[in-house]
Amino acid sequence: MTELTLDKLPRRVLAKIDLQTAFMASRCVLAAERLQLFRKLHDKELTAARIGRLTGLHEKRREAFLAVLIALGLLARKGNRYRNTALADRFYVKERSIYWTRAYSDGCVQEYEAFSALEDMLTTSRDYEEILGIKRVGYVDRMQREPQFANDFTHMLYYDHQRKARALARTLDLGGYRRLLDLGGGSGVMSIALARKYPQLHACVLDIEPVCRVARKIIRREGLARRITVCSCDYTKEVPSGFDVIMACDSGGDSPDVLERCYESLPDGGLLVLVDKFQSEDLTTPFFRLLWQLRSSRFWLVTKQQALYRVRQAGFVGVKVRGLLADVVMITGHKPHRRQRA
Ligand SMILES: C[S@@+](CC[C@H](N)C(=O)[O-])C[C@H]1O[C@@H](n2cnc3c(N)ncnc32)[C@H](O)[C@@H]1O
Repeated sequence: MTELTLDKLPRRVLAKIDLQTAFMASRCVLAAERLQLFRKLHDKELTAARIGRLTGLHEKRREAFLAVLIALGLLARKGNRYRNTALADRFYVKERSIYWTRAYSDGCVQEYEAFSALEDMLTTSRDYEEILGIKRVGYVDRMQREPQFANDFTHMLYYDHQRKARALARTLDLGGYRRLLDLGGGSGVMSIALARKYPQLHACVLDIEPVCRVARKIIRREGLARRITVCSCDYTKEVPSGFDVIMACDSGGDSPDVLERCYESLPDGGLLVLVDKFQSEDLTTPFFRLLWQLRSSRFWLVTKQQALYRVRQAGFVGVKVRGLLADVVMITGHKPHRRQRA
């Protein structure tokens, strides 16, 4: 899945966008996604009235809204008919699952709201929820409450993390291991790729119950239910034992408490695997995480050096780092044997 970063826009489109008003253009694209406009226009040429009927666009702002999308290079018009450009088809239909369209664009709208309170957040210690008088829960709590959101979010990451899963299976050597615990394993996408590569491997995907329900279906669909089980558990309270590898991909496994539990649960010689987008030492990349940090109520960015320090502090030895994709890093470490600890 590729993001539509600005460098992919034609120059004539870029030349119209300035940084102070870019948020309006971006919000229009989000609205088009949320109304499923690009999906409904896929492979079709439709009049404005027909688009209106399919998406719910009211005639009052319809022409102007469609003109904005033309100006941004996402729609083209011939006579009175509109169609997606190749750019819109590629980034908003072909490379993006319907789950991404629903879950991600929904999250982006929440970001708009949060960032509307930025000056107040920056000049006081208050969070945006308090400033705006709204109540928000984190994505994990939201999945606990809303099965549809758990389904969309988990499927979104299942498709989005395919490349990462393939890169992990290429890079991580699990030849000598038999039982893998996938902490916060979500859809099981990482375990599925590893189970395919290593026929001797059995995995357990651990997550909250609403996510487990989705993961069970995906794993069954992939024909791996005999080798990958799913376990509903809160890993901040308990990390089950009986596994010779514990892996956490993009799931908070770098917190000191969780690392300590992983260490206790692993047998001597057991392997820890962390996969994440760690922040650069100057915090500037990944840029989207830095922006999320601004509206967060606590500081959560972890640099690669900090993650390495935490892994060693928890007691792991032979700690190594390998790049998986452009900004995704894998950290591995072993629980030492008793004689090594002495
Ligand atoms: C960003 S997703 C990553 C999923 C998967 N590892 C992947 O790479 O596609 C993080 C996952 O961790 C799970 N998670 C977060 N906190 C958790 C907790 N305390 N106990 C169990 N699972 C948790 C979430 O429900 C979510 O499915």
